[in-house]
Amino acid sequence: MSSAQVAARTIKDLEEEDWAVLEAIERSISSYESVPLKTIEKETSLHEDQINFRLGRLNYFGFVLRTKFGYVLNTGGLDALALNSFVKKDLISGMGASIGMGKESDVFEVINDSGKKSVIKFYRIGRTSFRSTRKTRAYLSPQDQHQWLEINIGAAQMEALGLRMARVAGVSVPEFIARDRHAVLMSEIDGPMLYRCKVEDVRNPKVLLKDILVNLRISYMKADMINGDISEFNILFDGNKPWIIDWPQFVSSSHANADEILRRDVDNTISFFRRKFGIDLDPETATSYVTGKKSRLSIG
Ligand SMILES: Nc1ncnc2c1ncn2[C@@H]1O[C@H](COP(=O)(O)OP(=O)(O)OP(=O)(O)O)[C@@H](O)[C@H]1O
Ligand SMILES: [Mg+2]
Repeated sequence: MSSAQVAARTIKDLEEEDWAVLEAIERSISSYESVPLKTIEKETSLHEDQINFRLGRLNYFGFVLRTKFGYVLNTGGLDALALNSFVKKDLISGMGASIGMGKESDVFEVINDSGKKSVIKFYRIGRTSFRSTRKTRAYLSPQDQHQWLEINIGAAQMEALGLRMARVAGVSVPEFIARDRHAVLMSEIDGPMLYRCKVEDVRNPKVLLKDILVNLRISYMKADMINGDISEFNILFDGNKPWIIDWPQFVSSSHANADEILRRDVDNTISFFRRKFGIDLDPETATSYVTGKKSRLSIG
């Protein structure tokens, strides 16, 4: 079970004092690699015995780790804090199946009280490199842990910003609902990643390719944004239109390497359509269309 699923099952069993201790540790992650017991005492004004009891529970759930110097907030602890915040705001009431486990995130379907489904994406940047670090060093470095949590919170902030800016400009992206810590809540797109689509599932691949390039053009021209990670893995197809997902790495069109980054996005798109559907399109022409140098694009 992933740490988010453990968190989802456990949050209803956590008591006020558990949350107080967890939040106290969280408040100190940028100041300490490992938060000393004394700091937790000061932050919570709970009795030491009470704190130790709570820390034992949090450790049991995998939300905090004990070190020689104090306590480290674990990924599951941050998951629990984020989920609880969404629950308290009535944004979600239950977590369902995993719908994507990538290198950099865990994505789940969630539901709210009125039965509406949406998607929660927990950032896990560094998970793979962190795992190998752990293997070679044979212990978990507290310094790495808190630093990774902060990197993941930053990535979720960027995704939230990217999704909102792209949507306002009219790019076909999931609707941003809320962000808390390293978790982003957004509308669910009903369709697979492009690379999973069978050839016969796409009625008119030329129209779909054009539609994707139109979206890149709107993003570039209206929002001054380049997604920077476009490929058949970050485009979902609902049978009717494409949806561009995964925005934390977006860059501005005035970025020093903007031309190169945009060109890679366009190249990835075009080479997928060439491989899968045998469509030929000159990347130079397509890029000129996306940047607005050309006002029309005809494919094939
Ligand atoms: N709004 C959404 N609606 C439906 N499915 C989604 C949505 N967002 C993400 N997914 C699913 O979760 C997967 C991972 O999402 P995303 O690409 O945003 O994360 P990621 O960190 O890039 O994962 P990876 O590191 O593998 O690329 C997607 O490929 C898709 O299957
Ligand atoms: Mg992705």
